Amino acid sequence: AASSFDGPRKILLAAPRGYCAGVDRAVIAVEKALETHGAPVYVRKEIVHNRHVVDTLTEKGVIFVEEASEVPEGELLVFSAHGVSPAVKQAAADRNLETIDATCPLVTKVHREAVRFTTKDDFHILLIGHDGHEEVEGTFGHAPEATTIVNGPWEVDQIEVPDPDRLIWLSQTTLSVDETMETVAKLRERFPNLQDPPSDDICYATSNRQAAIKKVSPEVDLVIVVGSANSSNSVRLKEVAKEYGAKRAERVDFANQVDEAWFEDAQTIGVTSGASVPEVLVQEVLRLLEEYGYDDVEEVVTAEEDIIFSLPKEVRKALKEAG
Ligand code: F3S
Repeated sequence: AASSFDGPRKILLAAPRGYCAGVDRAVIAVEKALETHGAPVYVRKEIVHNRHVVDTLTEKGVIFVEEASEVPEGELLVFSAHGVSPAVKQAAADRNLETIDATCPLVTKVHREAVRFTTKDDFHILLIGHDGHEEVEGTFGHAPEATTIVNGPWEVDQIEVPDPDRLIWLSQTTLSVDETMETVAKLRERFPNLQDPPSDDICYATSNRQAAIKKVSPEVDLVIVVGSANSSNSVRLKEVAKEYGAKRAERVDFANQVDEAWFEDAQTIGVTSGASVPEVLVQEVLRLLEEYGYDDVEEVVTAEEDIIFSLPKEVRKALKEAG
């Protein structure tokens, strides 16, 4: 590619990036289900929002469906990492499906908060998140009569609530940390008695990946985020990169989507990946970049992660029985 600079081409590789503990657990749960149960294993919605993961599991015998109603009676159905509403669990039970719940424990935590604050404490929930995203549907479904979805700061003025003094906010786990704080600040201006959740709903993986790309972005001409278009946390990484000074930010599912025109004027490139992205996809991007002379890779580490979640109980039981 043509370039307007001399000197070494460099990559700043953000860390942490890629798989979080919840995604790792969900993907392994499906793989183990294939081993112990055999194909087909049905999965409601994409197990995690990544093209490569979904395609690979499909090849191994997973059938992805939109709803439990598409699954033949008595078959095995896995609920995705994004979580489901009680109504979805009921629909599966009504069809006599065997189920594995691969909901990330950090999403389950938000579900529990939703139930507790609306039943025990009689609060109304302002759920900050993207309307239509699977995780938001699942959380909303835990307290549908007492939840209002707030997509962002721009919606704060229009929302209507039953009692401004009995409000708590919760959120989707994969939002922009900065934008969510802005939404909360606006909400609090309008509803001074708004209560905070007991702990952050935006998960450690989302905030760590954003923190890493914030460090990298001011130093680079281009940021490449590996991640799928429907992956909320991946799309947020691209936005955060731009906000924090990357001259350009692009998202790709695969290395072959990288456009060499982006390299023009790009002496230093930042690379990261969303929480649902296998590291192999990042390595393929790095190999491609190396072909264009970006062979000096420096990892920028802003946090160490050592969180591991135990597999869903249904999977642990099946593995035990299989010996
Ligand atoms: Fe869970 Fe956060 Fe990953 S909620 S699935 S650890 S992105």
